[in-house]
Amino acid sequence: MNSIAYELSTKIEKKSANVAIIGIGYIGLTLAVQLSKAGFTVWGLEDDQKRIEMIQLGISYIEDVSTDELSSLVREKRIIGTSDFQVLKDADIVIICVPTPLSINKEPDISIIRSVTEKIAGFLHSGQLIILESTTYPGTTDEVILPCLEKTGFRVGVDFFLAHSPERVDFGNINYTRSNVPKVVGGSTSVCTKIAQAFFESVAIVVPVSSALVAEMVKVYENTYRMVNIGLVNEITLLCDRMGINVWEMLEAAFTKPYGLQEFYPGPGIGGHCIPIDPHYLAWKAKEYDFPVKFVELASDVNSRMPYFVIDKTIKALNNRGKPLRDARVLVLGVAYKKNIADYRESSSLKIIELLYSGGASVIYHDPNIASVQFDYRSGLNKLYSVELNENVLENLDAVVIVTDHSFIDYDNVVKYAPIIIDTRNATKNVMENREKIILL
Ligand SMILES: NC(=O)c1ccc[n+]([C@@H]2O[C@H](COP(=O)([O-])OP(=O)(O)OC[C@H]3O[C@@H](n4cnc5c(N)ncnc54)[C@H](O)[C@@H]3O)[C@@H](O)[C@H]2O)c1
Repeated sequence: MNSIAYELSTKIEKKSANVAIIGIGYIGLTLAVQLSKAGFTVWGLEDDQKRIEMIQLGISYIEDVSTDELSSLVREKRIIGTSDFQVLKDADIVIICVPTPLSINKEPDISIIRSVTEKIAGFLHSGQLIILESTTYPGTTDEVILPCLEKTGFRVGVDFFLAHSPERVDFGNINYTRSNVPKVVGGSTSVCTKIAQAFFESVAIVVPVSSALVAEMVKVYENTYRMVNIGLVNEITLLCDRMGINVWEMLEAAFTKPYGLQEFYPGPGIGGHCIPIDPHYLAWKAKEYDFPVKFVELASDVNSRMPYFVIDKTIKALNNRGKPLRDARVLVLGVAYKKNIADYRESSSLKIIELLYSGGASVIYHDPNIASVQFDYRSGLNKLYSVELNENVLENLDAVVIVTDHSFIDYDNVVKYAPIIIDTRNATKNVMENREKIILL
């Protein structure tokens, strides 16, 4: 370790290293809170002016961060929200937490990583550690970020340090939080790994790997694993439906096996900022090696059929009551992509609402966590607002489609007053009365 690396390590040990996080969204804000609580001063760099103002006022816009907690950290100047990249001049550690979406053709769009890397390069100085936290395809750190930073003349592992540490947090999961999920860290050189490891050891158990490439592969593998297993259980669900088997009963029995089987449940499709996206990053990169990742294609195909299957089930259920989908009044219950959270990015509820609407139904939704939902202009829907869920609303419907199994919904009441319930999550499993109204996947 040279003197530059040694000096940075000492600052990390003393928590006197200044941290700048670029992109203060779900990941950036929760990480800022964790690091500032551990004793670091954190600049939160954002390009969304509204978010900066909210941080400056100490108001949280992420459900995993309380306003009480944020406001006291802001008051103590442990978290400072800004849009001014000049702060990078004084930052010892820069963490990139910007979005990594897919293009309309399902190809990686790392344009934001590229643009913030250009900005970092403009302020790069000796003794800085740059960490990529955003999820991306294996190779991004060394093939995209590193050359851009080395154009400055500074050398990696000597003058500055570069590492990837994927974000593994699972919002809404009360058993596994940032404090007990190990952090995987891989640097562009072994010194980079060591310094990034020392930094994250201030807040987590760290699993060092031999390179940034391995760390990047860890993340996309983890999410591909989830996507593929969800695809498998969804495919079995489609088969069970055809064979007249209750898939939920079958799974409950299957999951009594104490080993060799992890619990994955069927659903209306996949959602969120990770599972529907990250495997496509991997598959795209694999093409460079003439390697089609067939599991990703297959699982993606099955999972994207699920919203259509939900619509078929709804149409059949309405038919059985002599009601066509056209002009049916349907309430979608839950739009978040998973239970008890307020995030509807890539949620299959959006597709289901669009399909119901294009089939002529009159669609409303209820989600206490999400006051309004903005639709793509192509759907013709524009914006919908969450309606109240009361007896009057329920009685005046033709069907309820449960898309998100939020725990705080009174499912007994839903089943009591709604005429039919298409339950895509088995959210009504504890409802004892009027079960004949419930149609499971
Ligand atoms: N949300 C999750 O559960 C989760 C979990 C693991 C990994 N990730 C990964 O973490 C990364 C960030 O995800 P997120 O959920 O926090 O996204 P997000 O959209 O909630 O937050 C990203 C933030 O970056 C800001 N931003 C965009 N461009 C910017 C720029 N040029 N300069 C400064 N700020 C900019 C946005 O305004 C936004 O506030 C993604 O790569 C994602 O795949 C997310």
